[in-house]
Amino acid sequence: MIRLDGVTKQYPDGTVAVDDLSLTAPDRAITVLVGPSGCGKTTTLRMINRMIEPTAGSVTIDGQDVLAMDAAQLRRGIGYVIQHGGLFPHHTVERNVAAVPLLLGTAKKTAISRARELLELVGLDPALGRRYPSQLSGGQQQRVGVARALAADPPVMLMDEPFSAVDPVVREQLQDEFLRLQGELGKTIVMVTHDIDEAIKLGDHVAVLRVGGRIAQLARPHELLAHPADGFVADFLGRDRGYRALGFERASIPLHDEPTVALGSGVGDAAARAGNDGWVLVIDDRRRPQGWARPADLGDGVVDKTSLALGGTLARVDGPLRAALDAALSSPSRRGVVVDGDGALAGTCRATEVLSVIEAQERPHDPGGATP
Ligand SMILES: Nc1ncnc2c1ncn2[C@@H]1O[C@H](COP(=O)(O)OP(=O)(O)O)[C@@H](O)[C@H]1O
Ligand SMILES: [Mg+2]
Repeated sequence: MIRLDGVTKQYPDGTVAVDDLSLTAPDRAITVLVGPSGCGKTTTLRMINRMIEPTAGSVTIDGQDVLAMDAAQLRRGIGYVIQHGGLFPHHTVERNVAAVPLLLGTAKKTAISRARELLELVGLDPALGRRYPSQLSGGQQQRVGVARALAADPPVMLMDEPFSAVDPVVREQLQDEFLRLQGELGKTIVMVTHDIDEAIKLGDHVAVLRVGGRIAQLARPHELLAHPADGFVADFLGRDRGYRALGFERASIPLHDEPTVALGSGVGDAAARAGNDGWVLVIDDRRRPQGWARPADLGDGVVDKTSLALGGTLARVDGPLRAALDAALSSPSRRGVVVDGDGALAGTCRATEVLSVIEAQERPHDPGGATP
């Protein structure tokens, strides 16, 4: 557990970057600091590994005062990831990943072979280890940065806008991979971002900071969306927050049996199974939905992949209400396709019925939420 208690940082020019900030980052969870540019996020993060010394207050990790520890030793025990990966340009990728273990005296052969394992762990081909950072894409460099931070297997990781410098598609991939990795590794992570969507996606707890380094709200993501503490937080969350909050709400969704045809069936059979609107759901031999077809628009042949209209999104039976609503709204037939854990068809849902479920629910409160 990382604990900041009444931490203040005033720079020599008089700027108060962080003002009397108190925050707890629980073990094995991702705590995100989010806020506009200049609100003191980087300063706060760097006070945890003492790259910046606080003017007042205390920082402890597992009860140990970091100010009483040797700064260099402290830093080697904390993974640190920054924008662009922060790699040494004149070292190979694997040498970059092995940097801290080598510094700690690990034998070179061991460190390099471990580096290759880590590259694989973060989703890179270990063969890339021989290249130099400039020979990798931005997204690959960012993965190397994560691998390097993990190399000494530190229990704590600090991440400063780790995914900001890459394009949106790659960013989403990196975020998904990062969540998968955290599911396996369970590090205690403090991450900084200016992107509220990233904060909500990745954070177990999210601290929204305002300029001057003060916490506007510290809560779990769904609580933030459902109950922003004030106008600043609500503005910062932006549009669609009622809809986005549904991404965290689950309830059982009324399901309907949906007539189906198998891929490869005759168009005539498909026409006989189609609903009043002419659409029929096509499945494969394991009952996995393949898409919707409208037999009236097809010739006399069989229903194959080319017969399918672009389908809607799929929802899971145990998934969030937002996914169920979206499945219905995005389906060409307006019947939302719901699948089980194996991806097999469970039934279809209707937008009005999902809305009725939502209407019947109270807005969620958060008894288990974080407190500063
Ligand atoms: N070395 C410094 N000297 C003076 N002011 C600084 C220094 N570093 C950052 N600041 C100021 O402190 C404030 C917070 O900066 P920073 O922690 O980098 O914010 P963020 O990471 O949220 O963008 C800003 O007003 C910034 O200009
Ligand atoms: Mg910053």
